[in-house]
Amino acid sequence: MKMFIQRNSPLPLHQQIYHSIRDQIVSGLLTDGDQLPSIRQLAQQLQVSPMTVVQAYRLLEKENWIVQVQGKGSFVRTQEPSEETQPSPFAWQKKISNNLIGARYPSFYHWPVEYPMADSVIDPELLPNLFIEQELIKLLSQDPRSLSRYSEIQGDFHLRSAISKYLQKLSIHTSPEEILITNGTQQAIDLVTRTFLQPGDLVVTEAPTYAAALDLFKSQGVTLLSVPVDEEGMKISNLMRIFSQKTPKLIYTIPSFQNPSGVTMSRKRRQQLIELVQNTTTLILEDDPWSELYFEKKPPEPLFSMDTQGHVIYIKGLSKILAPSCRIGILLARGPIFHQLLTMKGNVDLGNPLLTQKAILSIIQTERMQRHLEKLRIALQLRRDYLIYCLQVYMPAGVKWHKPLGGLNLWVELPEKVNALTITEQAKEQSVSVLPGTICYPYEEGGDRFLRLTFASLNEKKIEEAIRRLGVIIYKALNAPSAFANA
Ligand SMILES: Cc1ncc(COP(=O)(O)O)c(C=O)c1O
Repeated sequence: MKMFIQRNSPLPLHQQIYHSIRDQIVSGLLTDGDQLPSIRQLAQQLQVSPMTVVQAYRLLEKENWIVQVQGKGSFVRTQEPSEETQPSPFAWQKKISNNLIGARYPSFYHWPVEYPMADSVIDPELLPNLFIEQELIKLLSQDPRSLSRYSEIQGDFHLRSAISKYLQKLSIHTSPEEILITNGTQQAIDLVTRTFLQPGDLVVTEAPTYAAALDLFKSQGVTLLSVPVDEEGMKISNLMRIFSQKTPKLIYTIPSFQNPSGVTMSRKRRQQLIELVQNTTTLILEDDPWSELYFEKKPPEPLFSMDTQGHVIYIKGLSKILAPSCRIGILLARGPIFHQLLTMKGNVDLGNPLLTQKAILSIIQTERMQRHLEKLRIALQLRRDYLIYCLQVYMPAGVKWHKPLGGLNLWVELPEKVNALTITEQAKEQSVSVLPGTICYPYEEGGDRFLRLTFASLNEKKIEEAIRRLGVIIYKALNAPSAFANA
């Protein structure tokens, strides 16, 4: 079992081991009946005292994640592997070491439920599907050979030109040469991770943050530290304290309508962040999935536009605002790092599909895009307001939330007694999916009392039914004995 522990983390070692194993169980990487390493083996592997492992295993057992069987060892959840069941012919594969260190995100994603509120996606009814479909048909009839050609690795030149003009509206002045088209911004995060991060590097994220980015950073064995966000975004004073000890290799931030908290980093904090990294070798990865989706006023200009020394790598996905399945992400960077990222993109996939790049070209380069965004802002604001109304009606006292001024998500704080993971499981049984805050923190327990709800994926009728069901579950949890509650 591959596992990294951080000796300079504020989290005790036994808790790091506990989290790492719990994450692997939650994500399905460890399954019922899997045997854990013996206490001695794991202590040796991690260079910790056997007592540290004992403490971790006790904690896991107390929460029913594992059972310890006298004389046999420790097993995931079930009593012990049944003697009657035939061993799987693939069981040996579990012995192959891999880089999936505590990847938790995919296990919460795309649950087939009637009321999906876990995924940050927009209701297809609100997206220009018909237009894109017609573009695809036109494209194939006018240029059937487009399926027989590779795209440029960097991305279709016409699309990059159109994007550089589009980005001007977001106060970003760039050129097609500084743009790399990626397979969604998920790939952009992966490219930055693969290209620049090595075991032991220090990566700082916001807390909470986008869970799938955490999973990627972890896969490289980096040291992860997180900085809390408040009403003005990432707390720069905390970040300064980190810098006084060690210079981070990378800071990952979502400054506008942050995922999952919904807060926006103020202009002052953005300037402070840029000042902090000047004259260092720190990279900033600025993730901007939806700054266009503001309900009151536009967020401040991106960090990328404030930076003159090439520290900021800016990424923008078009999934959230246009067409998730076209998988178009935009990456901007300046200087030698751009070419390093481009080389990695070539190594990884030789470039995005040409067809989907061409399919969105005509919408991106016309006024149609602005009209679409205007409508989207209104529709999403209505859904946010309706979600808040439903929370007021159906949630028991003690449930709080932060009103987001843009984006797709609302961050809910549960009363002290209620556990987010338990609520998530209960909600799934009622065909409602929610994202537990637990997976939005690198290691801390902080997320156990938070849920992220997406208001963009359901219409108002469905939002109401989902929140009614969720309200009942939380109400029961509040009034139940310990089974439902935080241990
Ligand atoms: C903050 C953030 N970044 C990146 C992504 C990846 O999206 P995509 O790869 O579709 O651009 C997501 C998806 O939910 C997200 O929320």
